[in-house]
Amino acid sequence: MTFETIQVEQHDAVTLVRINRPKALNALNSQVLEELIEAFGSFEADDTQRCAVLTGAGEKAFAAGADIKEMAEKPLAEFYGENFFSRWTSHFTRAIRKPWIAAVNGFALGGGCEVAMMADFILASDTAKFGQPEIKLGVLPGMGGSQRLTHAVGKAKAMELVLTGRLMDPEEAERAGLVARVVPAADLLNDALKTAATIASMPPLAAMANKEAVNAAFELGLDMGIQHERRLFNVLSGTEDKREGMQAFIEKRDPSWSGR
Ligand code: CAA
Repeated sequence: MTFETIQVEQHDAVTLVRINRPKALNALNSQVLEELIEAFGSFEADDTQRCAVLTGAGEKAFAAGADIKEMAEKPLAEFYGENFFSRWTSHFTRAIRKPWIAAVNGFALGGGCEVAMMADFILASDTAKFGQPEIKLGVLPGMGGSQRLTHAVGKAKAMELVLTGRLMDPEEAERAGLVARVVPAADLLNDALKTAATIASMPPLAAMANKEAVNAAFELGLDMGIQHERRLFNVLSGTEDKREGMQAFIEKRDPSWSGR
């Protein structure tokens, strides 16, 4: 498929996806959604691809939100009838079992912040800005922001951010637990690709299971979460890669993963 609003490149086992509407600060319209679903679907289905990076084209924005011009005249019946936004939340979280990173290179506002929070973790440039300013448009976050932001930074900060619409700089976002690491803007893409390559070099079933276990902490209580983790451990104990990883350690050599 040829894309118009995103760019996709493969760097060995890492898929790099750029949202590419820099003149509109990479605002997320329906075409971006369809193209991202297609690109991430191909990434998930391609056995040679082990980790993905999502970033924004240009220097100014990761994504400045859902496309306000697309939403401005949309009536309630369409928002409700189409279940607008539901595919964003269902697709990028449940359907993608391989790890992926958001490399936030500028504004990540509204839907942009929400898509970044759907990633397994966020790497941010020192020029990034995070926020959920939907209140200023007379609405509220629509792709899970009120929930994921609260899980990430806690009630006090999430509430202050959604009620005032103020933006957070990357250092504050890192302190608050929204961001894994902040890196200089010029290094962000290389750093994200290198981090993704490290993840891509891990045994793929173990990568999936580690991701699933951490995500379970958002859905399950502590006891159920620990039980879920133990079941995943038991599952991995039956893989060839577990045998290879442990044997390679004992034999003091590098492991060679089969993905089985
Ligand atoms: N939707 C559509 N177009 C957008 C956009 C958006 N979310 N954000 C920016 N743009 C467009 C602007 O309209 C402008 O286009 P034109 O040149 O055609 O006028 C272009 O991008 C550049 O933007 P600005 O001139 O505004 O750039 P700036 O540097 O002065 O300001 C900004 C940057 C502070 C990010 C400002 O653009 C802004 O506030 N954007 C909107 C942020 C926002 O409210 N996001 C939430 C959207 S609602 C949402 O996301 C709902 C949800 O939860 C799913």
